[in-house]
Amino acid sequence: MSKKLSNKTALITGSSRGIGRAAALAFAKHGVGLIAVHYAANADAAQTTVREIEALGAKAVAIGADLRKGKQATDSLWQQFKEAAIAFSGKPALDILVNNAGIAPATSIGDTTEAAFDELMTINFKAPFFLIQAAADDISDNGRIINVSTGFARVAAPTHPAYAASKGALETLTLALAPEFGKRGITVNVVRPGVTETDMNAEWLAMPEARAGAEAMSVFNRLGRADDVADVITFLASDESRWTTGQMIDATGGARL
Ligand SMILES: NC(=O)c1ccc[n+]([C@@H]2O[C@H](COP(=O)([O-])OP(=O)(O)OC[C@H]3O[C@@H](n4cnc5c(N)ncnc54)[C@H](OP(=O)(O)O)[C@@H]3O)[C@@H](O)[C@H]2O)c1
Repeated sequence: MSKKLSNKTALITGSSRGIGRAAALAFAKHGVGLIAVHYAANADAAQTTVREIEALGAKAVAIGADLRKGKQATDSLWQQFKEAAIAFSGKPALDILVNNAGIAPATSIGDTTEAAFDELMTINFKAPFFLIQAAADDISDNGRIINVSTGFARVAAPTHPAYAASKGALETLTLALAPEFGKRGITVNVVRPGVTETDMNAEWLAMPEARAGAEAMSVFNRLGRADDVADVITFLASDESRWTTGQMIDATGGARL
């Protein structure tokens, strides 16, 4: 039986853990041929994800690149992907690019140092920008670019001003690129997760009051799970979303509506 993403190639940044890992496993269940599991330093977690993907019948390769290093890192990441894709299919073609890797420090404007600001912008915004630039010519016609933002881009986030702004920049980039990529049938969209139970906020959610507050933000009165967000990413990766581009798709469980 043909599956939603049969034989596609996919690159998901930050897929050793969390939302990226859940998206990689969802892609594998939907028939993706090759998944590149990108990570920064956590090679063991990336290898575990690779094995989980392969158990579902897809091929996978782990690719390390610390996105704090800017364009040098995205060039290396792209080169490593191309080698894996050529080994898989004979061509460097990429069908689905998910810019998911990110960090989300809770730092007020007063406490944000220049170094912390630069690191955040480099990982969350500069890296997707230059990865899309590097990949552009090899993204297949009717391919997909999916950028992972945050619900904090649509509500005030005084606890995370630099983080919210880094994702705001990613959203503006998404809109700006949709017409150019549209000429080749490629869609460019954003998914906005809300509070999702991953390592990113494990420490915060270990506090019962914080957890209850986070649950109460959603109209469904629970936290998001990584697979809640992964299923929305999978929809945007599939042909079913072919008429949707330049859009910010909410995956917050109706948080703070
Ligand atoms: N969790 C939430 O509540 C939430 C809410 C809204 C939006 N988001 C967004 O969703 C995305 C995924 O979040 P998550 O919760 O799944 O995060 P996570 O569990 O903390 O995982 C982060 C992933 O990004 C990678 N990464 C971190 N720093 C990196 C760097 N310097 N260079 C390259 N890769 C790096 C990590 O690789 P290693 O394993 O090697 O460290 C890991 O694969 C992020 O963009 C985040 O902003 C999350």
